[in-house]
Amino acid sequence: MITPVNYVKKLDGKSNAHLIAFNDGKEYVVKFFQPGMEKTLPNEWIGYCLARYLGLPIPFARIVDIPPEFLANEPQLADELFSTQYQFASLYIKDCKNGHQVEDDFRIKNHQPLAGIILLDYWLYNQDRTRKNILLNEAGKDTFQLWIIDHAEIFGSNSWLHTDLEVLPEEVLKSATHWILAKNIKDEECFREYFDLIETMPIYLIEEIVSVIPDEWMVSAAEKKAIVTTLVTRRRKILPQLMEKFKKKVFRPKNIK
Ligand SMILES: Nc1ncnc2c1ncn2[C@@H]1O[C@H](COP(=O)(O)OP(=O)(O)O)[C@@H](O)[C@H]1O
Ligand SMILES: [Mg+2]
Repeated sequence: MITPVNYVKKLDGKSNAHLIAFNDGKEYVVKFFQPGMEKTLPNEWIGYCLARYLGLPIPFARIVDIPPEFLANEPQLADELFSTQYQFASLYIKDCKNGHQVEDDFRIKNHQPLAGIILLDYWLYNQDRTRKNILLNEAGKDTFQLWIIDHAEIFGSNSWLHTDLEVLPEEVLKSATHWILAKNIKDEECFREYFDLIETMPIYLIEEIVSVIPDEWMVSAAEKKAIVTTLVTRRRKILPQLMEKFKKKVFRPKNIK
């Protein structure tokens, strides 16, 4: 496991993310376990693993162990001193803008996975695909390489309870970012390709991802089972309709304009 060597800075946002350099020579955005937002780290882990499985552009991430001595020596980490041992760390992508910092009609260079990002958000019920939760690396005139970040609020929130998972909404999400992504999708067939990937993902792999969640992140055995059931049920019963609704309400109208 990598070890932290240097504290860099605190990052914007409600998750209290910190930029920390590790002994592999790289910088990571580290999110700490926080009371009241207990599902942040499990959500990040699940969102990350599923996005990776689908081949979506998400920064490489890992679970890291931050020793108490490191926390004790860094005043900016005072609030995290009594946090759990394991945290979620996402490789820092340098020189990025977010969706607010560019003109609306920018082009996305890596457009192939965009339908997959939208389907992932619907599968996981991620209401938080805001313009801040995409990162954009300049790749030519008005053209950007896109990354997705921040899956802290999948399953409806960063503090969901078992019962919430059973009643996740089944509607088209209000997301200006989804409109921007949809505008850059070249071929409607991309939705079908990613839907097939989601539908055929082995259940044992989903179970494996959930089983890796550290015990100290306090997801009970019943909640872990509920996560798997929710993912399997939503991909079978809910995602097909939602995909059609999205294509009708967002993808096709934007093509007519
Ligand atoms: N992998 C990353 N590379 C570069 N910047 C990042 C990365 N992850 C997060 N950030 C920056 O940190 C901010 C907070 O992270 P985010 O995951 O969105 O947490 P939250 O919005 O819940 O606080 C982001 O808005 C972004 O500016
Ligand atoms: Mg965010």
